[in-house]
Amino acid sequence: MTDLMGDPITGATGAESTGKKAHPKKVRVVPDTLKKFREIHAQAAAGGPPEKIAAQKAKGKLTAQERIAYLVDEGSFQEIGLLMESRCTDFGIKDKHIKGDGVITGFGRIGGRPAAIFSEDFTQLGGSLGRTHADKITRLMDMAIDARIPIIGILDSGGARIQEGVDSLDGYGEIFLRNTRASGVVPQISIILGPCAGGAVYSPALTDFVFMVKGISHMFVTGPEVVKAATGEEVDFETLGGSMTHASKSGVCHFVANSESDCFRQVKELMSFLPQNRSESAPVQETKDSPNRKIALLEKLCEIDARKPYRVHHIIWWLSDDHKFLEVHHAFAKNIVVGFIRMGGQVVGVIANNPSHMAGALDINASDKAARFIRFVNGFNIPILTLVDVPGYWPGVAQEHGGIIRHGAKLLYAYSEASVPKITLVLRKAYGGAYIAMSSKLMGGDINFSLPSAEIAVMGPRGAIEILYSRQIKEAKDEEKEALRAKLAKEYSDKFASPYQTASTGSIDEVIEPAESRTRLIEAFRMLAGKRRPGQQERTGNIPL
Ligand code: HXC
Repeated sequence: MTDLMGDPITGATGAESTGKKAHPKKVRVVPDTLKKFREIHAQAAAGGPPEKIAAQKAKGKLTAQERIAYLVDEGSFQEIGLLMESRCTDFGIKDKHIKGDGVITGFGRIGGRPAAIFSEDFTQLGGSLGRTHADKITRLMDMAIDARIPIIGILDSGGARIQEGVDSLDGYGEIFLRNTRASGVVPQISIILGPCAGGAVYSPALTDFVFMVKGISHMFVTGPEVVKAATGEEVDFETLGGSMTHASKSGVCHFVANSESDCFRQVKELMSFLPQNRSESAPVQETKDSPNRKIALLEKLCEIDARKPYRVHHIIWWLSDDHKFLEVHHAFAKNIVVGFIRMGGQVVGVIANNPSHMAGALDINASDKAARFIRFVNGFNIPILTLVDVPGYWPGVAQEHGGIIRHGAKLLYAYSEASVPKITLVLRKAYGGAYIAMSSKLMGGDINFSLPSAEIAVMGPRGAIEILYSRQIKEAKDEEKEALRAKLAKEYSDKFASPYQTASTGSIDEVIEPAESRTRLIEAFRMLAGKRRPGQQERTGNIPL
């Protein structure tokens, strides 16, 4: 009779396993198989040679394995493809074959939710991208797109593996293709933690958010030596492609961290605001912060001189749950502020003119920055709050020749295309085309509020009277000109420097009590939560703008 309590693998009887006395049976042990398996895995998982790991540490960098450990929930990472190796034999590379081929791929949980992660290992062939390395990344991306989970890439690489020739270039092509296919389907995040050079920079540029760390991350299409040879310019790595360059000048980088651990903390914070894919909503977070909290600061705003600059961040902090605001692109195009907040627990994307920088006027960079953010939040079902205090478009030859018409149109397109709930609050100035651009009612705003302090007009009073009364001003005696201008400007202001004329035409839905702004916005977002428009479910890719 078969002993049903016995161990089918070792052959131990049920009596043995329960500790009762029984006739001993021969136990089959397979130590060599397990030993070999564990040795291979331990060897492969160790990363590059010890001296390369020491060199990595000497630069203040973590290893590829440590980076994943920082990012994911403890013990949740499951690696796939650990044993894959390069098949290239040219240029003596065969002797350098390593398991994993210089990149770790797998999936883990971040804040309890699954994500696909790859982490390039600079200690193995400089993290360079060969055929197998690319295959591992593209397989992971395909799986993530199918499974509808975010893709996070940690990049630390010398770029295309020179020994593998066009195979490595093709590998990049395959990654770019997947970046584009995944765009607007699942969130994609790139964390640059080392060099990222040549055409390799275009994978991060195709993703939704790029993180860099001061002193560690460098991105450029051609390095300092090529720049010098081609143009004669002398420039160091940091100035050419360091984190602050890309955060403040080029706009390639969305978030800058002081250290790698700080960077991973920021990535996790960002992810807490994002849905897993375009079919889901962003996670709701309960709050004790009352929706009825009054905001005295907005009453004060109504009392101050309309030309006085202020940082719009203060208003965003007061409006949001628990005063929390995750700003995106903090150092780039500071005249417009974008980022994530929660209102009544629901994630909201904020776009706000910032009067403390260039008076909050719209320019080329501000248009690009806001348009891309709007396209991201719209693609991932995150409603939009627009805070308006804008004197117009930034004037100048550089702006016109640089294409403010073309770039400004991106903002109009992004707002008009967005089908998520859109609520606008006019805080103060809202002049001309910039008023229309900032999610105005007739360009598709669902609910457009205004504070009593709003000034909504075709242009500012001083500019308007110079056109309307140019003849009278010209004909007035010189000593009377200024008084005449002041009188005419006041007349114009009395008529237009308030929101009431605009509210009377329905271009503004409601002029609201400033202190009650948070309540009004939260109630409006709750009402609009189920908003659906035909075509809304169609994918809109987050094309780099
Ligand atoms: C093969 C590479 C490599 C590469 C680095 N290594 N880059 N191996 N292909 N692209 C190897 C080095 O030979 C070295 O191997 C190890 O990685 C570490 O590199 P070091 O130079 O010792 O490190 P460091 O001094 O820190 O300099 C890092 C570096 C430098 C700045 C990244 O290695 C470098 O300039 N590499 C070349 C960068 C580049 O031009 N890449 C091609 C970009 S064009 P050993 O055996 O000595 O440890 C590109 C096209 C993409 O990527 C196109 C997509 C469409």
